Amino acid sequence: MANYSVLASHSQGKSEVDKIFGVNQAANEKAKIVGKENIINATIGAFLDAKGKLITLPTVEEVMRSLPFDELANYAPISGLPEFIEAAIDFTFQEYRPKAYIKGIATPGGTGAIHHAIWNYTEEGDTYLTHDWYWSPYKTMARETLRKLDTFKTFDENNNFNVQDCLRKVTELAQVQRNVLLIINSPAHNPTGYSLEYEEWESVVNGLKELAQSKKNNLILFVDVAYLDFAPPGSRKFFQLFNDLPENIFVIVGFSMSKGYTMYGYRSGCMIGVSSSESVINEFQAANQFSNRGTWSNGTRSAMRVLAEIHKSPALTEKVNKEREEYRLALEERAKIFTAEAKEIGLEVSPYKAGYFIIVPTTKPDEVALKLQEDNIFLVAMASGVRVAICAIATEKIPGMATKIKKAIDALEG
Ligand SMILES: Cc1ncc(COP(=O)(O)O)c(C=O)c1O
Repeated sequence: MANYSVLASHSQGKSEVDKIFGVNQAANEKAKIVGKENIINATIGAFLDAKGKLITLPTVEEVMRSLPFDELANYAPISGLPEFIEAAIDFTFQEYRPKAYIKGIATPGGTGAIHHAIWNYTEEGDTYLTHDWYWSPYKTMARETLRKLDTFKTFDENNNFNVQDCLRKVTELAQVQRNVLLIINSPAHNPTGYSLEYEEWESVVNGLKELAQSKKNNLILFVDVAYLDFAPPGSRKFFQLFNDLPENIFVIVGFSMSKGYTMYGYRSGCMIGVSSSESVINEFQAANQFSNRGTWSNGTRSAMRVLAEIHKSPALTEKVNKEREEYRLALEERAKIFTAEAKEIGLEVSPYKAGYFIIVPTTKPDEVALKLQEDNIFLVAMASGVRVAICAIATEKIPGMATKIKKAIDALEG
């Protein structure tokens, strides 16, 4: 008898295996046999210290604990606390705030912002675009919202951002759809660690402006900056390219408190709209506030309050930035050790610049990941590479890793 289902037709077949959870489980099982100290568990997408404990920013915790519980536990306004939105906008753009109408809507993490961008700026059945190395929930959300995801090549032959392929795909899609949503995750891209250079951003924006001239399309650029605070100083300059855009290019920046404020589970982010048109920004606010009400209602007040408190005190802001900078440099150090060894032994890795992950391309990702488990190295296999979560491993465990990965690849790829 065929499996009986009570799901509505549009939800038939929806399921997803949590690969990371599975590999992490395998690492924990092996740790019971060989000892935790002998395991390299580079699976988890959270920043961990040398003992495998979640790194949190002490000042963020202090601020949270200083607030009365009835303030933390209360509802937030549907669109978010106004002082939180102001803080999110300010912390995102800093000195590079675009000259434009800018408004924000609080969402549960950056995920909520991506969801609303897809839902409110593409039609049912439409396709939206991102790079071919991408954070897999982009695709989950396409299935969830009855849209499709298509990709362009992330890198060109010199391992630079493939502006040409990106614009080619946007142009092609613009011929069959009125609204074209393009998601770019930079700086500190998950999973390659790439950040677009200012000039690359300039070329993307100029290409979009050219395409916008005919007025046949609306071009929606979603900039996913989930890892912005783990990119080096100077990484915000590209925001100034969003000055004075034509009204049919609409930019949405997805701010997240998960990584930058180590508040992953608090589910707090902000969808920031940037437009030269007052009506576009007003409808942005109205439609996305409506979507908040129609999905998860309001976001987490405690997280919003914490960001607002930090923002209103320059001393707290400085403390948080200093604490985070220390951890950012530690992450940079981990990456340096890994990439230097890779270079020395001739292991190809993604053009890492910043962030939580590095990719090692391979044609046999599943096999390579499995083989490395024999060496007590646990990585997540992706479509055409293995993902090394340097955010999750102690600095002293990194030397030798690249060599073992190369050995596994050489053995399996032949
Ligand atoms: C590329 C990317 N975008 C967005 C997010 C959103 O995270 P959150 O919803 O926790 O803010 C993540 C989290 O892992 C991510 O990796």
